[in-house]
Amino acid sequence: MCGIIGYIGPKKSLPILLDGLKRMEYRGYDSAGIAVIEDGRLKIVKKQGKLDVLKKELKPYKFSANLGLGHIRWATHGEPSDLNAHPHTDGKNEIAIVHNGIVENYQGLKKWLIEKGCQFKTKTDSEILAHLINEYHQDNDLEQAVRLALKKVIGAYGLAVISKKEPDKIIAARLGSPVVLGIGKNERLVASDLTALLPVTKNVIFLEEGELAVLTAEGHKITKLNGQEETRQPQQIDWDIEQAEKGGYDHFMLKEIMEEPATVKASLRGRMILEKNIVVFGGLIDVMDQLAQANRLIIVACGTAHYAGRIAEYIIENLVDLPVEVDYASEFRYKEEPLDPKTIVLAISQSGETADTLAAVRLANQQGILTLGIVNTVGSSIARETKAGIYNHIGPEVAVASTKAFVSQLVIITLLAILLGQQRRLADNQIKTIMAELDQLPEKIQTILDQKATIEKIAKLYCQAENFIFVGRKLNYPIALEGALKMKEISYIHAEGYPAGELKHGPLALIDENWPVVAIISRDSVYEKTLSNLEEVKARKGKIIAIATEGDQQIKTIADQVIYIPKTIELLNPILNVIPVQLLAYYVAKFRGCPIDQPRNLAKSVTVE
Ligand code: BG6
Repeated sequence: MCGIIGYIGPKKSLPILLDGLKRMEYRGYDSAGIAVIEDGRLKIVKKQGKLDVLKKELKPYKFSANLGLGHIRWATHGEPSDLNAHPHTDGKNEIAIVHNGIVENYQGLKKWLIEKGCQFKTKTDSEILAHLINEYHQDNDLEQAVRLALKKVIGAYGLAVISKKEPDKIIAARLGSPVVLGIGKNERLVASDLTALLPVTKNVIFLEEGELAVLTAEGHKITKLNGQEETRQPQQIDWDIEQAEKGGYDHFMLKEIMEEPATVKASLRGRMILEKNIVVFGGLIDVMDQLAQANRLIIVACGTAHYAGRIAEYIIENLVDLPVEVDYASEFRYKEEPLDPKTIVLAISQSGETADTLAAVRLANQQGILTLGIVNTVGSSIARETKAGIYNHIGPEVAVASTKAFVSQLVIITLLAILLGQQRRLADNQIKTIMAELDQLPEKIQTILDQKATIEKIAKLYCQAENFIFVGRKLNYPIALEGALKMKEISYIHAEGYPAGELKHGPLALIDENWPVVAIISRDSVYEKTLSNLEEVKARKGKIIAIATEGDQQIKTIADQVIYIPKTIELLNPILNVIPVQLLAYYVAKFRGCPIDQPRNLAKSVTVE
């Protein structure tokens, strides 16, 4: 997934473009580039590699243009290179485009354009758009040329276009990929992500599917691709710029982990009414009857959000007699599972833009199924295309590896289970107990974060390991999966998560003194079972790092290192237990010198299939 940005207004565009690209660098870091119209000519500078490489390349240039585009790339078609970097132009260097998405029918369009005499410089699908638009721009103004060109395109695009023939406007368009407009005083911006706009304005408009916008410094016009005009009021974003910055930490990932006490408070705020022992979600009010009638819940999500779904299955089935099924969104969309009208499909997504999860939502919508979302990014596609939903309200999550969003997802899932339980037979005293424990979580999380130096020391002991196994039982099994994912994502160490009871059915063969086992072993209903599984590991000289409940002396006799977690109820243990596995992966990656916030080959959310 790439990041596009465009600026038109009284200010010099270059610093605004570069700052915006910096804020979107977590979307991709294979190459970066800018285009400006200076003295009536189109000037393009682009380089393979991170944004700093482009900044160095730009040093000799003194661009003062007020109009420009920028792009940060996560390569899909055409390997990372200077040539394949965006912006792309037509053969005559008249227009420039930046694109986030995939042109699925690019081979056919390329053949058609070559027959018309176009010569291509790159192996990308996006370059087609530049030639195609310019083909129509010969006889049409830029807006009409973009409209005609996009009618031929099959695929996904977040697109911005400028032309030296019309140097007073930017044309933007959206289909499948996110596009947000920034509405400032005598200035307009377009970007893939609102964090890129925040330094200039907090007034934004999210383009809807199939919309096109014409931006000038003084104004903006939004239409459907068929030309039908749309009026849209800007909305004010309540995120402040600091939230999208590192706040003095070495990495966004550590900053976001250290924010988790505040994350829990923000996720609970206005939703858990302790004095009335009830849960209220404003975003679900219109569908409360359907929730009460529901006879099945299917959760669709990807990556870390999928593991939040796995824990939801335990929590909801434990508190509410509602069968829950959890699917990888990329599998659900091809399962062709018959869905009866009383089924609910719940999508969990931090970015709200993950293509597979969005497609799963659309599939359920097409079948008339009630779709809900737990989403962090305000105004994102999944938030707008689900029928109802819950925002996390935790501010932007910048690091590619998801941490605070996961904790917030678990808190909101627990509140949702209580809400569904309130509609069924969940006892008031049980609700009271869970709410009281939820209310104490921020403090308990802080006591775990206060142990980060201890976790750093443990990480140092194992940072040269080539493999890790994470184990847990019941609600802690998905935490073992998440722990392994974190270790893989940011330290590039091979790691696997297993139900502790599964070890003896295969993975135990791997265990020896060089293979650390991280055991999530709360003092819960399956403690003894998990303990005996760890005995099996110990018997094979495996090294055990235990994440255990404070006061548990027995575990000390088996584990090599123990990280103690404050007591809470079994249902909420995962929320506390995930924090040490996040920190362990963080510090192992740090000792290995890995690019923690931008791990290779990954991106914050993948908007292509
Ligand atoms: C991946 C991210 O691209 O997408 C993961 O690197 C994330 O951190 C996954 O968990 C799902 O993203 P989202 O935004 O749908 O929760």
